[in-house]
Amino acid sequence: MNISVIGTGYVGLVTGTCFAETGNKVICVDIDEKKVARLSSGKITIFEPGLEKLFERNSKEGRLQFTTSLADGIRNAQVIFLALPTPPDGDGYADLNFVLGVADNLGKLLKKGDYKIIVDKSTVPVGTAEKVHNIIVQSAIEAGIENPEKLFDVASNPEFLREGVAVDDFMKPDRVVIGTSSEKAKDILGQLYSPFVRQGNPVIYMDEKSAELTKYAANAFLATKISFMNEIAQLCERLGAEVDMVRKGMGSDERIGRRFLFPGIGYGGSCFPKDVKALSKSAQQADYNFRILEAVMEVNEKQKVHLLPKIKSYFKNDLTNKHIALWGLAFKPNTDDIREAPALKIIEELISHGASVTAYDPEAMANIKREIGDKISYAENQYDVLKGADCLVIATEWSEFRTPDFDKIKSLLKSAAIFDGRNLFDLQQMKEEGFHYESVGRAVVKGEA
Ligand SMILES: NC(=O)c1ccc[n+]([C@@H]2O[C@H](COP(=O)([O-])OP(=O)(O)OC[C@H]3O[C@@H](n4cnc5c(N)ncnc54)[C@H](O)[C@@H]3O)[C@@H](O)[C@H]2O)c1
Repeated sequence: MNISVIGTGYVGLVTGTCFAETGNKVICVDIDEKKVARLSSGKITIFEPGLEKLFERNSKEGRLQFTTSLADGIRNAQVIFLALPTPPDGDGYADLNFVLGVADNLGKLLKKGDYKIIVDKSTVPVGTAEKVHNIIVQSAIEAGIENPEKLFDVASNPEFLREGVAVDDFMKPDRVVIGTSSEKAKDILGQLYSPFVRQGNPVIYMDEKSAELTKYAANAFLATKISFMNEIAQLCERLGAEVDMVRKGMGSDERIGRRFLFPGIGYGGSCFPKDVKALSKSAQQADYNFRILEAVMEVNEKQKVHLLPKIKSYFKNDLTNKHIALWGLAFKPNTDDIREAPALKIIEELISHGASVTAYDPEAMANIKREIGDKISYAENQYDVLKGADCLVIATEWSEFRTPDFDKIKSLLKSAAIFDGRNLFDLQQMKEEGFHYESVGRAVVKGEA
């Protein structure tokens, strides 16, 4: 099948590459000329495990191409995926300008005799498929195209991939959701996805609005699980319970499940924060006060700075001239994405209290340098960052941080103190190693190294 993907960011590049991998001919379109030049010259633009190999193979074999021209990109495409940004606008609503702007241009490019399916993969509020449909019709009519309704269908196909395991998620999705009222679109999209669901995972067909809401409901529910567990962690600290035990105890209940129950310093990334906010705003627009979501967001904001009072108290409420080493900048491991990363908030707070920060992250250093430049300093690896630091703060649970050389850490830090926002280490071990160790929802270890 000939496919076009508009927007070649995290979702677009993974989508395009994975569809090429199953034999389709894919053209990815982006307005970012540098990005397109880089991708066209065979260089990948994001870090995502497993993606580079597929990208190289499919680019070499001519199944994956890149262009800045929308007209060239969609000319022969039967299916056009929109993987465009939907950032929050000033009030927290999803900004649809990117999606609707492209829809407007697509209308002008429809041709007599064509049939194209325009598929919304971006996370968009309920009613967007209808808006996209209407805009395409309107702009086609303005361009003098007759009966444009016959030339295309619109479908909603929200994407559930997780950064860090995006290729696996795309190649073996738990489910594929397709929202469309067109039988033809349903058949074609079903065929396109059939190689990805051979193990029997469902393709769930529904109407456009339900598909649009499904994506927000899924993300908001997961964010709620995280905030709920962070509230339990807060209680554990106050009541002397151990959150790891509580987590295991409750997670073993099949109705609850083990995943997404890990407390920490809050969720971040390009999706949960904006999607929870956008759903809450959509609810308001529909005259409904979705109270849980307000609490989920409030808890998350507080949780990002959960470690700060602990660090301050350790240094007797004076962080001036304290030098802090930071492990982890990405909003989660296995990605270089720093959008809404809790590490950014921690850095801001530490600096505003007079401390200086040196950071290390396996993949996100370039992005953070672009974002905050020389506000902090940077180290080459997880040990260099510790040299002369007063303590270590952990913000991202990269695997390589999980079993470090504790003797080396002690020898490099001025005082053997670790503030761990991701609960990486065993409390007993930290005691034996002699660290002062504070984490989330667990007892404080007051070691004496
Ligand atoms: N990142 C994720 O993990 C994830 C997961 C599921 C769903 N989503 C949703 O998918 C959508 C895209 O997210 P993303 O993370 O890939 O965004 P992104 O910012 O990484 O990529 C968007 C791309 O679109 C390009 N673009 C902007 N305007 C354009 C235009 N007019 N024509 C062509 N290209 C244009 C940008 O240059 C950029 O490369 C969002 O709605 C997001 O909520 C994201």
